[in-house]
Amino acid sequence: MALVTFSNPAHKDKTVYAVAGSHTETLLKLAKTNQVPVQFDCQDGECGHCVVRVTSVDKKDRMGYHLTDKEKTVLRELGKLTADDIDRLAVDDMPSEWRLACQMIVRDEDVLVEY
Ligand code: FES
Repeated sequence: MALVTFSNPAHKDKTVYAVAGSHTETLLKLAKTNQVPVQFDCQDGECGHCVVRVTSVDKKDRMGYHLTDKEKTVLRELGKLTADDIDRLAVDDMPSEWRLACQMIVRDEDVLVEY
C-alpha cells in the first residue's frame, strides 16, 4: 500500500496522509477523496491546473513511470520539462518530478506530493 503525503506551504497544518486502495485511481481522485485542495479544472490532462511535484519520501528509488502524451504536452507548455528532459526520463526509465494529478495513477510507493 502506498502512503501519499500531500503538502502545501499555505496549508502547513493540513498535510494529509492517504493510503491508496487500488492501483487504478489517480492522484487527483485520491486528493479529492481526502479533501486535499489540489487545484483542477478539466480533469483530462489538458489545462495543467493540477500540476504537482512528486518526490520519494524514503531512500528507495522511485518506480519508473512514463508520462502520458497529454502530460508531456502540458508540462512542456508550463515550462516544467523540456523535450530533452522527457527523452532522458524515458531512456533512463525514471519518473518525472512534475506530474498532472489527474493523469498520475497512484502506485505502490510512498511519495510526497507538493501542490
Ligand atoms: Fe486539467 Fe489535470 S485538471 S490537466
